[in-house]
Amino acid sequence: MVDMDTLVSLAKRRGFIFQSSEIYGGLGSCWDYGPLGVELKRNIRNLWWRDVVHLRRDVVGLEASILMHPTVWRASGHVERFTDPMVDCRACKRRFRADKLDEDPWTHYCPARKENKFEVPAREPCKHCGALRTLCPECGKGELTEPRQFNLMLKTFLGPVEDEAAVTYLRPETAQGMFVNFDNVLQATRRKLPFGIAQTGRSFRNEITPGNFIFRTREFEQMELEFFVNPHETVDGQPADEYWHEVWIQQRFGWYQKYGIRTENLRLREHGKEELAHYAKRCVDVEYRFAIGWSELEGIANRTDYDLRRHAEVSGKSLTYFDDERRTHVVPYVIEPAAGVDRSLLAFLTDAHHTEEVRGEKRVVLRFHPEIAPIKIAVLPLLKKREDIVARAWTIRDDLARRWVTVYDDTAAIGRLYRRQDEIGTPYCVTVDVQTVGDAAKGEVGDGKVTIRERDSMEQIRVPIGELGSVFGTLLGGGAWSAVAAGYPAQAPPGS
Ligand code: GAP
Repeated sequence: MVDMDTLVSLAKRRGFIFQSSEIYGGLGSCWDYGPLGVELKRNIRNLWWRDVVHLRRDVVGLEASILMHPTVWRASGHVERFTDPMVDCRACKRRFRADKLDEDPWTHYCPARKENKFEVPAREPCKHCGALRTLCPECGKGELTEPRQFNLMLKTFLGPVEDEAAVTYLRPETAQGMFVNFDNVLQATRRKLPFGIAQTGRSFRNEITPGNFIFRTREFEQMELEFFVNPHETVDGQPADEYWHEVWIQQRFGWYQKYGIRTENLRLREHGKEELAHYAKRCVDVEYRFAIGWSELEGIANRTDYDLRRHAEVSGKSLTYFDDERRTHVVPYVIEPAAGVDRSLLAFLTDAHHTEEVRGEKRVVLRFHPEIAPIKIAVLPLLKKREDIVARAWTIRDDLARRWVTVYDDTAAIGRLYRRQDEIGTPYCVTVDVQTVGDAAKGEVGDGKVTIRERDSMEQIRVPIGELGSVFGTLLGGGAWSAVAAGYPAQAPPGS
């Protein structure tokens, strides 16, 4: 498993992710997505949207504003309950989440050792003096204050006057936009239960201890679905909410597998009663084996009718569905698969990362699923000094770019160009060489063929330029390399 430092360094070097405001010393826990990161993120968001909205008959989309009426957050329970317990170190003044204190290694000044300051692994006592952590885990000296509840919502003011009346919040989840628009969507679309409303967008949380790269940040992007079901119905002998909860747990687990995350790095975790959010009847996390250990990738909760009921109570507006069969108004239950774009990106990046040895040299390769890969095809001229080769390579790049994200690169020798594309996860390279264009000075005519190289096997085939569209249509539409390669002559690798 690749470590976090290696990922952070690759992400910066190759233009996936940069520290925010780096030239000013950086802004803690905020990150900017570079040329490759923005494509990768867009692919994750678009695939989620395609699979959760477009391909389904029972889900529609929404884009609510980030700023909402402040009463939304009182009704939803966020003002009162969206808190983490926080403690302060009286010596170094650092802040920690009280419930996570024991999860990290701690600094200890051991009385039983001469050179006495060192780090003790999480949850373990000092192996010299047997002491357990009682002081600040960071400086090892300060007493910690009693835990206080700290609200995670980021406050702001609307309008020119910064007083209490102008206070509102940057949304901490996209979900509430779907609840407050439930009736609007219902009236506009005349949907029958069960149906879902989906949304992707930025959320903000003033996390006490953000960190671990893009795993926990204060500004992040969510992909959430609120799937409304009729609590009076049963499906296959089960209450509809429980049936659909199970369906969505399986769907969401399968989604990560479908786009290449290895099954051994995924697992489901049932929330204990004590950790359930105030609105949830049951919650199951899809967890991924990140470099920091098994952690939440996505939560799938049964939110019951809590949110619709609360918004109806506080707003005085009806948020019900008329059940024709039972001739009664019902408040739907909600099944909510809630994923993070950034956290998914970290999982896809971690899982794709492989290091191997090829002919005595280290090869770093990101084995992204082709639909996840930021760049699908790289067109490379074998000789950048030959104008005819360069011109043909550009023409091919421009043609392919109409359908797939395709780049041109001639900034190094072919072997190095291949390695660069491997390291950013480009599934296919197309190489234009002397054979392709021929040599006019010698009266030689080109064969009009190029070499396609596949990232994972490094196999190469020779394909007529006119067939590139159909070949990539097959390969990038889910076709197997082996099946396509069987139809073309293998090529001896130039630079592999
Ligand atoms: N509406 C329910 C909800 O927001 P959540 O478990 O708090 O549930 C859903 O968040 C997902 O959003 C998480 O599984 C994670 O992927 C992402 N997420 C939450 N907080 C995050 C943070 N501070 N930084 C990055 N991603 C975060």
